[in-house]
Amino acid sequence: MPIVRNEKKRAEIVKLLTQAYWMEMETVQSYIANSINLDGVRAEEIKKSLAADVMEELGHAQLFAKRIKELYGTVPGSFGFKPKQRSLQPRADTTDVVNVIKGVIEAEQGAIDHYVKLINTCSDADPVTADMVTTILADEEGHLRLFEGFLKEYEKGKQ
Ligand SMILES: [Fe+2]
Ligand SMILES: [Fe+2]
Repeated sequence: MPIVRNEKKRAEIVKLLTQAYWMEMETVQSYIANSINLDGVRAEEIKKSLAADVMEELGHAQLFAKRIKELYGTVPGSFGFKPKQRSLQPRADTTDVVNVIKGVIEAEQGAIDHYVKLINTCSDADPVTADMVTTILADEEGHLRLFEGFLKEYEKGKQ
């Protein structure tokens, strides 16, 4: 008997997992780029933090991919990728740390909103996915709080 017996429910969960997988993959791309593109003394801590997050976000992508397969889905190939993270694209001013921090906050908040939706969709039908996504959600909440703290400090430094 397949995991998550209700086929319609399973398809709905796989669709949301696939979206989550792409969000993580795009975050990996954005964090690698921003951890390298930024310049200046004020950028150093942000670059280090983003570089460290890359591996964590990649781990999330692998967890989502594994769960897609377990639920009889297919992990998409690169042709299925559609970028969304406009705020994390490279800027002409490579010392503009504040806008990178804001872009990271936007990405993390977007992930949090999507994962809460995913957990709610699983509800009683799929406690295993709900449990996995809850653990990932906790990581993203940690990232969000960290970068909110960075923003507080960096916006003060701007005045
Ligand atoms: Fe993540
Ligand atoms: Fe994150």
